[in-house]
Amino acid sequence: MPINRLNIRIEPLANPRPARLPEALGFGRRFTNRMFTQRYSPEQGWHDAAITAYQPLALDPASAVLHCGQDVFEGIKAYLRPDGRINLFRIDQHMARFNCSASRMGMPHIDAELHIEAIKALLGLEHEWIPSQRGAALYIRPVMVSSETTLEVRASQTFLHFIILSPVGPYFGSGLSPVPVFISHDYVRAVRGGTGEAKTTANYAGSLLATEQARAKGFQQVLWLDAVERRLVEEVGGMNIAFVYDGKRISTPALSGSILPGVTRDSILRLAPDHGFEATEDRIDVNEMLADIESGRITEVFAMGTGAVIGPVGRFRYKDKDYVINDNQTGPVAQRLFDILTDIQYGRIADRYGWTQSMDIVNETACLQRSASA
Ligand SMILES: Cc1ncc(COP(=O)(O)O)c(C=O)c1O
Repeated sequence: MPINRLNIRIEPLANPRPARLPEALGFGRRFTNRMFTQRYSPEQGWHDAAITAYQPLALDPASAVLHCGQDVFEGIKAYLRPDGRINLFRIDQHMARFNCSASRMGMPHIDAELHIEAIKALLGLEHEWIPSQRGAALYIRPVMVSSETTLEVRASQTFLHFIILSPVGPYFGSGLSPVPVFISHDYVRAVRGGTGEAKTTANYAGSLLATEQARAKGFQQVLWLDAVERRLVEEVGGMNIAFVYDGKRISTPALSGSILPGVTRDSILRLAPDHGFEATEDRIDVNEMLADIESGRITEVFAMGTGAVIGPVGRFRYKDKDYVINDNQTGPVAQRLFDILTDIQYGRIADRYGWTQSMDIVNETACLQRSASA
């Protein structure tokens, strides 16, 4: 099957860098040789799809995105399987969320199938950059920004869509080590009716000050409460959160309109019952939650997201008081779910949920090269 149905123009690289990856990759600090771009205008729709050398974007200083922040993005991972093929994890869900985010931000949709083909085309050319060390992956960052040159406060007419790739290590470093989390009372991330359930940069920009203040106090992340009563637990940093009750029930905040519907969160909710855990979506009051930590009813807390997959929380601080969870150790439920989910993602066990798409690199690349030279 030809994979270049988008009619992507593939430009030759003048000086491709060899994919030499250090052992410690960090997260999102280095990028591969190529990127994908296409443009949107009301007259032409999406057009001018190209895979070019990775390069700076030329943006007019009056580009709408720099003034109104009309943009959306995604974070997906490609994993190297033991058989040398590549697994894409729930890429359809990420694509669907990209378009939901675009709707919320008043932006055009992208054809999901073609967008996925573009990702595969890029991966076909850049597969040497997929790291092989345990816990590492190739992070895929699709972005759409408004590109019209105007200072008027209104939706842009033109847009740029680009995709870049970054070889990454585990988000929180090696292994599953619990992180300390500061519960923010003064700042909120999102409000119902706002943009919290869209993946748009404004949500992250608004979270940075509180996160930096928490970091200065020795905390790695911030737990966000609802913006109205500042009582209901929402998310932790750029991840969803789950609480384990009595080692058996996994409870995560129900989607409220201000929580990003995480793909990892959804995967855990679906996996957990197949492995003997009850999984529920609830309204979680911060005071009750902290009392449950103190009484020992909550046995584990963990964050869920594409970057870290699962990140245990070892300690909360709320209004000057500390609450230690599971002796600041990674608990068995977090470890078990992490092992199962990453085994599926890396293709180490069978994927009975149909979440992974495997790419045969040799064939896909040959196919691409044929269509590029046609
Ligand atoms: C605010 C926020 N919440 C939750 C998540 C987790 O989502 P996912 O599991 O799809 O990566 C992310 C990451 O994209 C995020 O940025």
